[in-house]
Amino acid sequence: MWLGRKYAEAFNVKDAEYLSIVEDLLILEGVKQMDKHIQHSDITTLEHTLCVSFIAFCVCKKLGLDYRAAARAGLLHDLVYYDWHEADPAHKYHGYRHPLFAVQNARALTELSEKDVDIIIHHMWPLTPIPPRYKEAWVVTFVDKYCATKETLRKYKKNPVNYRNE
Ligand SMILES: [Fe+2]
Ligand SMILES: [Fe+2]
Repeated sequence: MWLGRKYAEAFNVKDAEYLSIVEDLLILEGVKQMDKHIQHSDITTLEHTLCVSFIAFCVCKKLGLDYRAAARAGLLHDLVYYDWHEADPAHKYHGYRHPLFAVQNARALTELSEKDVDIIIHHMWPLTPIPPRYKEAWVVTFVDKYCATKETLRKYKKNPVNYRNE
């Protein structure tokens, strides 16, 4: 279990409270589409956003913050319908532009609060220089970096453990 028990539980769909918060999003075609594109190493965008969403949910719950917003916006924070590794002019400056694309795509799927937008639009801070306003957005931006680092480092491991136990 490369990211620990809680991450695995999220993938094995066992945390009832977490799932009750995001289940309406997980069944949407737009959200499922994230599983078609690689985010880091061999991790799909959906796996990555689930990682961010679930860990941010746990952290915010522990800190007495709005864990619902963290879970939902965390799941939508990278909602783009392309593989950013592909050399396509439309993906140029992906790092800077995709938070806005994600907000636009997420708005087409569900209602977003001001806090949700803050979480999604500022998750690339400090690459995008305007910092988050809400504490939950700070949690998501740091959890995103944690997950991205773990996922990227998988590439360098000789015998990566398949965390899905498939
Ligand atoms: Fe991102
Ligand atoms: Fe991300």
